[in-house]
Amino acid sequence: MLKKKLIENNNKFLISNYSRYPISIIKGDGSYVYDTDKNEYLDFISGIAVNNLGHNNKGIKNAIKKQLDELTHVSNLFLIPKQIEFAKLLTERLSRYKVFFCNSGTEANEAAFKLARKWGLYNNKKTIISVTGAFHGRTFGSLSATTPKKYRDGFYPMVPGFKRAKFNDITSIKSIIKKDKKVLAIIIEPVQGEAGVKIADKKYLKELDILCKRNNILLIADEVQVGIGRTGKLFGFEHYGIQPDIISLAKALGGGIPCGAIIANPNICDFLTPGSHGTTMGGNPLAMASGISMVKQINKKQFLKKVTNKGLYFLDNLKLSLKSKKIKEIRGLGLILAIEFYSSKIAKKFTNSCISNGLLVLITEKYNVRILPPLNVKNSEIRKSIKIMKTVLEKIDE
Ligand SMILES: Cc1ncc(COP(=O)(O)O)c(C=O)c1O
Repeated sequence: MLKKKLIENNNKFLISNYSRYPISIIKGDGSYVYDTDKNEYLDFISGIAVNNLGHNNKGIKNAIKKQLDELTHVSNLFLIPKQIEFAKLLTERLSRYKVFFCNSGTEANEAAFKLARKWGLYNNKKTIISVTGAFHGRTFGSLSATTPKKYRDGFYPMVPGFKRAKFNDITSIKSIIKKDKKVLAIIIEPVQGEAGVKIADKKYLKELDILCKRNNILLIADEVQVGIGRTGKLFGFEHYGIQPDIISLAKALGGGIPCGAIIANPNICDFLTPGSHGTTMGGNPLAMASGISMVKQINKKQFLKKVTNKGLYFLDNLKLSLKSKKIKEIRGLGLILAIEFYSSKIAKKFTNSCISNGLLVLITEKYNVRILPPLNVKNSEIRKSIKIMKTVLEKIDE
């Protein structure tokens, strides 16, 4: 009855831009969440890579509570010590890089593009290249860099000056640069989350980094989904030995409170001069306090090593346990994994069946089931999830 009313009111009062499961989650603890019908789920969606320390994390909760007692919001007209503390933390291994805080991933990419364009003005450059499969957000700049048509349909015209190359194909980028001397920046996700966990080749990103540096082109790493420890490194690009000029972050960055950021190379960061860009809520003390706690807990050698080991354990055991002609590939980097099916129908059936058996996973780009457990997931929880997936798959296979 309660559920029926919820669905009714959801449809009555909320714009219908999301297709939602008829499940209402009201509580979370560690890797588990609970719904209004008292069902328990192993949460391997993690709010789509937001809850990287699971639910009800003590450190984050205490940081938020403490900050609530002091100050929740103050304008960027004033000095905000927590912003400085967080920026210092994020740039520990990025000497002299500087940070701008905003509220979401799409905003982070907008800031990256605006900074790049401002820098480009002095170099008479304006073209920004993104790649096939890319997802960078839903505001107009980010949407213009987002490749799949389904996100852009109905919203034309896009922002001019965006061009498209093939993912994992350096020659396709080279041929654009050869023809267009005004290429200003290339944006890339080290692992394409929305495209179905497509991992950039080592050689490709290394060559791309060199290409950018040789041609005075900015390299933007979109780390919105895979930053903050998801791949076993604080930033995904650290797997590749490259040095992006701009890094965009969001999702897990705020520890569950909306927060986005760009981290920019010292040679370009101050092109965003006073008044040229901003946001009222960006770097809000509450988001900063929560985010600092999140990043401090994750950015430890031992913690990140465990993420790597758990990722390998998960991947190996998934491959061993899920043997089916319906599966094309199982892949992952750290704790972002995907099972790619040959049929989108089967992928959907598999996802829905996992959810009704108490395991939250999500479908991505039709054929891929994406798995995003919390980074502090236990091995026993990984084993439990594989057991559910194996049973579900066997039933589908019958
Ligand atoms: C790589 C990437 N960039 C940008 C975004 C947009 O982030 P947000 O939804 O916070 O605007 C997303 C969201 O899924 C993403 O995965």
